[in-house]
Parts: sequence; structure tokens; C-alpha cells
Amino acid sequence: NTQRTPLIAGNWKMNLDHLQAIAFVQKLAWNLKDAKHDFAAVEVAVFPPFTDLRSVQTLVSADKLPVVFGAQDVSAHDSGAFTGEISGAFLAQLECTYVLIGHSERRTLHGENDEEVAAKVTAAVKHGLVPIICVGETAADLELHGPSAVPVAQLRTALSGIDSAADIVVAYEPVWAIGSGQAATPEQAEQVAAQLRLVLSETLGQDVADKTRILYGGSVKGVNIAGYMREPNVDGALVGGASLDIDEFSSIVRFQK
Ligand code: G3P
Repeated sequence: NTQRTPLIAGNWKMNLDHLQAIAFVQKLAWNLKDAKHDFAAVEVAVFPPFTDLRSVQTLVSADKLPVVFGAQDVSAHDSGAFTGEISGAFLAQLECTYVLIGHSERRTLHGENDEEVAAKVTAAVKHGLVPIICVGETAADLELHGPSAVPVAQLRTALSGIDSAADIVVAYEPVWAIGSGQAATPEQAEQVAAQLRLVLSETLGQDVADKTRILYGGSVKGVNIAGYMREPNVDGALVGGASLDIDEFSSIVRFQK
């Protein structure tokens, strides 16, 4: 779809300290520039830990690197007595473009439910961040409810506090495919992505559905990215493990359909 610029996003999770982050982003940007990557044609984003963001911001703005960045989570609150939380206002000040919300590791390891995810999405939008709303079913959900029921329900609730003016991205990450090496097939990813686009159209309207990027995540690598990118409803990837290796991540960014 020509309306939607593909987005390749690297979720570093709890990896790379601020010094490693600087070296990584600098080298990634140089590598891609050397390879004549067209950053306007395929957007490249990294999601470092919170403690790296200031360093990444300084580097990106000083060297005018064409890489964008975001945080891996955000508080639903603006400020106040919320020990350990990070406000969307702080992230916006650090020039974060995006923020991941509702990643399956937040949902399972930190008990985030759909309502909390919705509150975070609302907060992110309020502070001018683009939320990347992560949804996906577990292996048990898949067996019990089929492929799209859980992600569809998660997305419906996640969108409940925003309107059609909000800029958002959706990431479909089947939990069984994350870090397992057992990636969904492009057909599986497309099937769910098409259902998610339908939810966007029903809740926020056709224009939003047409322009919103839907990413696939779960064991994406250089060797399998092209298959996803050939699908009409998949507009990019959210990459975990393979985003920590500059060459591997570059090869994902430089996919050939
Ligand atoms: O957010 C990306 C992620 O959860 C996928 O991880 O390691 O399977 O690419 P991985």
C-alpha cells in the first residue's frame, strides 16, 4: 500500500547500555547510509531501554541521523507519586517518536491488562507520541479461540480512549512466535493483520484503517522478512533478538520483496 511507509522497528528489550547504544545507532546509521538505504522509503526505528534514550537523542540530533527512536513502555499518568514510572511528557521531551505499549512481556511479566494498555495509549497520544500497540495470542489462545479473536479484542479495548485524529501503529506479535524461532507464516500474519485493519476501520474509520501501519513481530530475521512484506496488510516488522545484531537488522531493513 503506497499510503503506508514500511516501518522496521528494533525492540532491544533489556539489552545494550547507553554506551553500547551510542555505538550501535552510529554504526547502524552509517552501515545503512553506506548501503544507500532510502530512509524515506523504509523507516527505521530503535527502542532502547529508558536509560539509553538521552544518549541516543543526543547522537541522533548532533549527527542528524535518519534513525528514529522510542521507548519500550510509558506510564498512564502524567506526573506524581508513581515510583519507577516514566511519563509520556518526559519521552516527548527526549524527542521520542514512538512508544511500545502492551508488549506481551509487559502483559505476562508485569500483569498489564487491556484497560491499562488503553490508558497508556491515551496518555501517549496526549503527549504527542505515536503508540505502537502490541497485541497477540498465546499458543493456548490460538488453540481455544483461533488466530484472531484475542488480538482483535485486545486492539478494540486499546483503542477505546482515542479518536480518529490519533496517529498510531499496531504490532501483531503472536506470543508463541516471540523469541521461539517459530515465526508465524506470512499467511498467518496476513490473516490476523486483515482482521486488525477491520477493527481500525470499524472503530476509527476507513481513513485511519487505510493509513495505519500494522507490523508483524515474532522471530523475524533477514531470511524471512520478505515474505511478510509481500502481504498486503503487513507494513513492517517489530524485531526483537535480530535487532541486536547490526548486520542482521540491516538485512531486515533492506528487505527485497
Ligand atoms: O517486540 C519484538 C519481539 O517481542 C519479537 O522478538 O526475538 O522473536 O524477534 P523476537
